Amino acid sequence: MITLTAKKFTLHQASLMYPGHLLSLCQSATMKRPTPGCALKGSRVILVRTVDTDVIVILVGIFCNLIACYPGTCIWVAFGMGKHFQYFNINTICHNLREDKSRELPVFHAFTSQFFGKAKHSAWETWNSFPAVTEAFLFMAHHLFKSLGVNSSQFQLLEEFTCHLYYKTLRSVTKLRQDLFLRKARTMDNIPPTQDALLQHSNRSIYQASNWTTSLQPQQNAPSPVHGHQSGPYYLKHPRMTTEPAPYGHEDTNTDDRPSRFKKAISGGFSVAEKIAHYDAWANTYDEDMRSYGFTGPEIAVEYMKRYFKDTSGKYLDCGAGTGLLGVHIKELGYTDFHALDASSVALEKAKSRQAYTKFIEEFITTGKLSIETDTYDGLVCCGCFVPGHLEPDCVEDWCRIVKPGGIVFIVLCQRWLSQEPAYNEGKLEGAFQKRVDECKWELVVREQRDKYLTEDVAEVFVFKVK
Ligand SMILES: C[S@@+](CC[C@H](N)C(=O)[O-])C[C@H]1O[C@@H](n2cnc3c(N)ncnc32)[C@H](O)[C@@H]1O
Repeated sequence: MITLTAKKFTLHQASLMYPGHLLSLCQSATMKRPTPGCALKGSRVILVRTVDTDVIVILVGIFCNLIACYPGTCIWVAFGMGKHFQYFNINTICHNLREDKSRELPVFHAFTSQFFGKAKHSAWETWNSFPAVTEAFLFMAHHLFKSLGVNSSQFQLLEEFTCHLYYKTLRSVTKLRQDLFLRKARTMDNIPPTQDALLQHSNRSIYQASNWTTSLQPQQNAPSPVHGHQSGPYYLKHPRMTTEPAPYGHEDTNTDDRPSRFKKAISGGFSVAEKIAHYDAWANTYDEDMRSYGFTGPEIAVEYMKRYFKDTSGKYLDCGAGTGLLGVHIKELGYTDFHALDASSVALEKAKSRQAYTKFIEEFITTGKLSIETDTYDGLVCCGCFVPGHLEPDCVEDWCRIVKPGGIVFIVLCQRWLSQEPAYNEGKLEGAFQKRVDECKWELVVREQRDKYLTEDVAEVFVFKVK
């Protein structure tokens, strides 16, 4: 196992080093379910490659069950990328936490995920300073899919824990809300949820943690989601209870066809022609639809343009420009030579109307096929195009070629696709980026996250400097 500590160790290399011993835990696109397929085949050393902390939490939560079925199993996680890349040993984590706390971790993680402005470390400190809540977490971890009532002792403990999380040793969130609201500089985001919202959230957390905990079962017997889940444009939403009212039951907000246009755009099984036709047909209402989902990709991109595309007279490419949402900002910032590339001619027509771009390239991006000459651009931005069924990870090969040495390429994408889209997950997309780092075609300048990309989604931003 010593070799696993090497910085550039990859899953592929691991397979070669440990033939027959490696278990790659599979993650399903929607529920993050590690499956013990290889353990069943006798593998005992497992390496999971992920950028998602949820996966580590799930592994810790199921570890005791896994080890009971497959004694001697050793699980490693290769986590993150670039200078944040590190290995975690799940056996050691579980040994230090001990069995109860390991089993409670998914419940704790789910429960403490939705308090606006409250990071995990403060939640962890609160748990340590208020250990009585362990009884509630233990109950939740052992009573899968069982809802709590407002008068249950477990919910009362959760309510008290929530008060402690906001630095108050009160027992009632209602009293605490009143107390905090009367203080200066408190916005509605900064105060705890109502008791009703907290109860729904507690039950949603049990539902989520129960799904994770039963993920070793081939056929999970999960009830339908209730407790205020909402259908978002392409997923079941877990509302952030301090910022928006949680609905009762499972509310389907899809009363118009906007979500279906979005869903179709990001679903697979379409030919190239069909995908382009879809964007052609969507071009006229795309801007409005995306805005209604709280899409902030272009605003995030602007921040990076200001930071890295300093020379406004340089030649830049908006790759996958679509209807040119970025165009408004390009104009405002005074860029004089920004090109727009997209496969959809109708979307490009819309982009033209912004009067911000100087050239329009109607081209479908496939790896190694771009017709643009080498060393053409001073910078390239790609916003919102690494989504299911769109760009192949290796298309970045062309970008290293068409951008001049010293030029910047930055990519804004929705973080969820790094773990949920089969074409990108398990390090496939990051692997394609890293491959070009290893081949000295570009270097990673920075990798950052931005909140609220699509309502509750997080954006992942990669900035590379071409060599
Ligand atoms: C979700 S939109 C993003 C558009 C724009 N960047 C934005 O932020 O609004 C994705 C765009 O990528 C384009 N696209 C998808 N796959 C493509 C490909 N392989 N080659 C060229 N364009 C593609 C689509 O036509 C669409 O306009």
